[in-house]
Amino acid sequence: MTLSSAPGKVYLFGEHAVVYGEPAVPCAIERRARVGVQRREDSKLRVHAEDLSLDGFTVEYSGRTDDHPDVDVSDSLIAAAMGYVDGAIDQVRDVTGEDDAGFDVTIESDIPLGAGLGSSAAVVVAAIDAATRELGVRLETDELADRAFRTEYEVQNGQASRADTFCSATGGAVRVEGEDCRTIDAPDLPLVIGFDGGAGDTGALVSGVRTLREEYAFAADTVETVGDLVRQGERALETGDLAELGDLMNFNHGLLSALGVSSRSLDAMVWAARDAEAYGAKLTGAGGGGCIVALDPTEATETALKFTPGCEEAFRAELAEEGVKRLE
Ligand code: MEV
Repeated sequence: MTLSSAPGKVYLFGEHAVVYGEPAVPCAIERRARVGVQRREDSKLRVHAEDLSLDGFTVEYSGRTDDHPDVDVSDSLIAAAMGYVDGAIDQVRDVTGEDDAGFDVTIESDIPLGAGLGSSAAVVVAAIDAATRELGVRLETDELADRAFRTEYEVQNGQASRADTFCSATGGAVRVEGEDCRTIDAPDLPLVIGFDGGAGDTGALVSGVRTLREEYAFAADTVETVGDLVRQGERALETGDLAELGDLMNFNHGLLSALGVSSRSLDAMVWAARDAEAYGAKLTGAGGGGCIVALDPTEATETALKFTPGCEEAFRAELAEEGVKRLE
């Protein structure tokens, strides 16, 4: 058995706009997906998943996701989770040349699925790393990030940036602009996360922004403005100016809301954080439901979120300095 873990992430700035070539700054956080892989004697895949907000499931199949047997959880969640695992294993077979390799895969994750914290990227990065190592191949981090990106790109029908997968593979704070991906220095960020217990459909949300952008010049301008805001945010990160970072996060949330990807519960949590005098707050990831991220060194935001109707969980998040971890 070979075991790897990879972290989730929050976006300080720039989700959605990054899909159109604008820069974005995600930060890896210490919530991880752990994937254990054991080579099988045949070419089948057997996947056992726990804690993916799916109540746990096991499926065994020899081909694509449509072959998997009936299990007692929503088809769309199974299809989403299995699509990422299938895609990751395709990349492993491709990069190792072992076209018929079969695996038992066990997934455990403390990152809620589809909630803006990069659960799919973390699962894909950890799965590719563990399965390649199980076959005796050790990928450099850049290649791992690239293979993980290709998986997301295919599963999400070409609607994915490199941001989530690069951040999960390398850890730390990163800057992504098109194909240019790099880690950057960041001050100690007092990150607080609020989770509404829900999830958004990344593909549908990305398509919604694409349609708006094609339909209205001012929506395209809004996407470009997010890019300007991110460049300003990078300067604030360099100087460690939390007040300015917070202002820019508030602005970024407003622009994401204008692009139609916020929700009542996300707005309620953002306002609870602002009322608690956080430096700033915004939704993180694709939106539609899931998580917000706030900057607050005091306890006030976490406490306020715990009393906010619609917020299921609030917690402080530490920056994950390390990306993929090779555990066994
Ligand atoms: C999803 O976590 C982030 C999006 O920008 C999509 C992507 O970058 O692939 C919405």
